[in-house]
Amino acid sequence: MTEFRRIGVLTSGGDAPGMNAAVRAVTRSALLGGVEVMGIYGGYQGLMEDDMKLFTSKDVAGIVSHGGTILYSARSEEFKTEAGMAKAIAVCRKNHIDGIVAIGGDGTFRGATDLSTRGIKTVGIPGTIDNDISSTDYTIGFDTAMNTVIQLIDKIRDTCESHARCDVVEVMGRNAGDIAIQTGLATGAVAIAVGEIPFDEKSAIERIRNARNNGKRNFIVVVAEGKKNFAEGFTERIEAQTGVESRFTRLGHVQRGGSPTLRDRVTASLMGEYAVDKLFQGMSDIVVCERNSNIVSMNIGFALNVDRLFKGKMTDEEKAKIAPEDLAKMEEICIERQTKKMQLYNTAKITCL
Ligand code: F6P
Repeated sequence: MTEFRRIGVLTSGGDAPGMNAAVRAVTRSALLGGVEVMGIYGGYQGLMEDDMKLFTSKDVAGIVSHGGTILYSARSEEFKTEAGMAKAIAVCRKNHIDGIVAIGGDGTFRGATDLSTRGIKTVGIPGTIDNDISSTDYTIGFDTAMNTVIQLIDKIRDTCESHARCDVVEVMGRNAGDIAIQTGLATGAVAIAVGEIPFDEKSAIERIRNARNNGKRNFIVVVAEGKKNFAEGFTERIEAQTGVESRFTRLGHVQRGGSPTLRDRVTASLMGEYAVDKLFQGMSDIVVCERNSNIVSMNIGFALNVDRLFKGKMTDEEKAKIAPEDLAKMEEICIERQTKKMQLYNTAKITCL
């Protein structure tokens, strides 16, 4: 057991429903273990600016069902600099913070690893609606965002049916198509276009034309924002080539808000408690992951490498520097992830019409 005086908790990057449940779990688990908790406001920017408050259990009361993050969030460029990092470390020392739980995406984890190498114990928790952190099967906020999306698409379909239209709906996800694939499957989209899987535009158009000729009135196409500069042009091409009147809808930030689903509240709570437990065991520079329905931890450097490998960003030179057994493990995780993604995409294709 490592002796902690105080730990800090922060949320960073894009907010995600369920972050509050994680903050609550971190706070209450630490307090129960006899360790004080600093709620750090505004992510790493707030850490550098010493914007924080000593939390009691009451500070996190009633937040498990609230969207957004009570700790607020930010993306900080200054924190990535040596000067910014020095400021953050000085603030930690001044406030007797020996450990930090950082909730966010891959940028948040890079910050956590930097703090860890400078003596502050850190644990990351994946929180982003995008589900784009390759080391974990699940990121907090993903389920809520997708439930918001399917509710909205179901409404859009109603009006498509009345007017005999097609609606091309663009959803978030940054460069990942996970939101698009699962919501497209769940709403019976006639086509799903994402950045990371080749899209057969010709057969999508043909499907719409044939279905219209057979009397179908409503069509939904789901496009991931990661398929850049595509959705609006595709909307025009559908109308021009099928004669089906078409509209484009970008759902936008409505996907980031709202009360978290049960899945997000439970996962966030499990991950929050687990993160504190790991800190108390003296572990650092790790990220909490969900793998095959279990909550596990992974070294942050390893997790970031899995991510780079999955996204095709790792050069052969970089690969050569990684121990072969580690590279094999990374590849295994990537293959599993890609297989799951393709399964969902193919099921959507098979069941859409
Ligand atoms: O990472 C979450 C996310 O909502 C992405 O899906 C989207 O690309 C991005 O953040 C939007 O960022 P911002 O809130 O800064 O506009």
